Amino acid sequence: MTEEASNTPANRQSWNKIADFWDTKLGDGNDMFLDLILPTIEALADVKPGQRVLDLGTGNGIVARRLAAREGVEVLATDYSEAQIENARRRTEKIFTPPRVTFAQLDLLDRVALDDFAQRHPEEFDVVTGSMLLKELSDLAPLAEFLPKVMKPKGRAVFANLHPCFHKPGAHRVIEVVENPDTGGQEIQTSIKVSKYLNIGPVQSQALRGQPEPLIWFHRPIHEMLEPFFDAGLALNKVREPSFQDGPDAGQIQSYHNYPQIPMQFIFRLVRLPV
Ligand SMILES: C[S@@+](CC[C@H](N)C(=O)[O-])C[C@H]1O[C@@H](n2cnc3c(N)ncnc32)[C@H](O)[C@@H]1O
Repeated sequence: MTEEASNTPANRQSWNKIADFWDTKLGDGNDMFLDLILPTIEALADVKPGQRVLDLGTGNGIVARRLAAREGVEVLATDYSEAQIENARRRTEKIFTPPRVTFAQLDLLDRVALDDFAQRHPEEFDVVTGSMLLKELSDLAPLAEFLPKVMKPKGRAVFANLHPCFHKPGAHRVIEVVENPDTGGQEIQTSIKVSKYLNIGPVQSQALRGQPEPLIWFHRPIHEMLEPFFDAGLALNKVREPSFQDGPDAGQIQSYHNYPQIPMQFIFRLVRLPV
């Protein structure tokens, strides 16, 4: 794949520019991370003392730090953005002495770099994680083919994503004011309108509202998201679809806290098939 086709230069430049905004806004995670992503990744990753974790597209290291907080767990965190790695390193060094997280630059669309990495870390990792990552990648095949090379035979890979059925770019939040005939009072009803799902080309998107510039987002229906991993000899063995369960957020009517029946996340676990 040429660099142009991979979208690597454009998105990497954007991530380098956005990194400080991302780090300031998210810190160790907003409600989506603290309530939905981190507990679910922890449950599916099931990391034990003495195990090795590879966190891909680590951003400012939210997932890497969370998993490294477990006694005896070591994490190698990678990203292609130098600025994201720098912020992750700074935050992480403040917490762990001696360091439990190490960092490396890795572009998940660059097959040469992936092969080189895999040769240096053959079947090394018990757990591989990628949070909010797949939508960044114009092609999932290089990542999918890389995973079995770096996962232990009994290793697992966990990927957290905004739910492709119920979230942007194809789905829109609907808020209605309805009159309750029994009480005469007005009630707010929320629902999701899905206008497109199967074929949505790359779109410009804001990962965080107000970020300095948009990023290219690669939406995939679920079958397209999973197929490259199946083709690479991996099998799906857990899926979680968490939604917020902590009651309505009356202050922000568009908030996903007002959609307890709609999963915000689609988080899945892959294992290697025996060869
Ligand atoms: C939405 S952020 C998620 C960061 C982190 N995993 C989290 O959940 O907080 C996506 C991350 O993927 C990285 N990324 C995007 N494309 C990549 C690629 N081709 N190779 C490696 N990292 C990439 C970006 O630099 C960014 O840090």
